[in-house]
Amino acid sequence: MRIALLGGTGDVGEGLALRLGRDTDHELVIGSRDPGKARRCAEDYLERIGGFAESATVEGDSNRAATEGADIVVLAVPPEHVVDTIEAVSGALDEETIVVSPAVKMSRDDDGFHYERAEAEKSITAAAAEAVPANVPVVGTFHNLPAKRLAALDTELGLDAAIVADDEAAAETVAAVIADVEGLRAVYAGPISNAVEVESITPLLINLAVKNDGMHDVGVRFT
Ligand SMILES: NC(=O)c1ccc[n+]([C@@H]2O[C@H](COP(=O)([O-])OP(=O)(O)OC[C@H]3O[C@@H](n4cnc5c(N)ncnc54)[C@H](OP(=O)(O)O)[C@@H]3O)[C@@H](O)[C@H]2O)c1
Repeated sequence: MRIALLGGTGDVGEGLALRLGRDTDHELVIGSRDPGKARRCAEDYLERIGGFAESATVEGDSNRAATEGADIVVLAVPPEHVVDTIEAVSGALDEETIVVSPAVKMSRDDDGFHYERAEAEKSITAAAAEAVPANVPVVGTFHNLPAKRLAALDTELGLDAAIVADDEAAAETVAAVIADVEGLRAVYAGPISNAVEVESITPLLINLAVKNDGMHDVGVRFT
């Protein structure tokens, strides 16, 4: 499969590219608002994967060009830019493309990080599902994975990625990709109406990481 990581120049894109590049045979394409930056990142990721997997494919391009022909498009951009990023690439999305949202909206004060819904009380995943063209399936996942731990290829993961989706086939496709990554397990958390529960775990994880020694990059294994 061809997997586009839009905003793949950032922390989540880096972590997912390194793990997927090392552990799977999927073709990866890093998307950016700046294609040159995407190409430089792709070269860097490929070099870092190279010691583990010689046959990995990582390209770089604009977000729009990366979306063309992709089977899965991950919106690895800040939550406030999920909808405008969808709008920028929507001409290249069709019902064969699965759009994945890992975005979590949070606020921060002296006490810590706090979950925030998107506008109109929706999760970001639900906002993404509303923004995509008709019949394009959306899957929410990767919200609870610490990007820096993904990028540390010498670190074992042992983590769960909760999935929310209304489209069962799309959920299964994304779950299979997740299962290909060593130490990751996909767990189904229900339809997109349950995305708030999944997204809101992330500020808890960050608060735990900030307030407890030795818990940086903490994630979840449901057991
Ligand atoms: N960091 C984590 O551990 C973590 C874990 C789980 C989920 N998440 C979620 O995953 C998403 C990505 O997180 P991240 O930490 O990778 O974010 P990030 O590093 O802050 O940003 C990712 C990329 O988004 C693009 N971007 C920045 N401003 C933009 C704009 N105005 N319009 C469109 N694209 C823009 C940039 O790419 P270009 O400049 O190359 O276009 C940037 O490299 C977020 O929604 C976050 O909530 C993060």
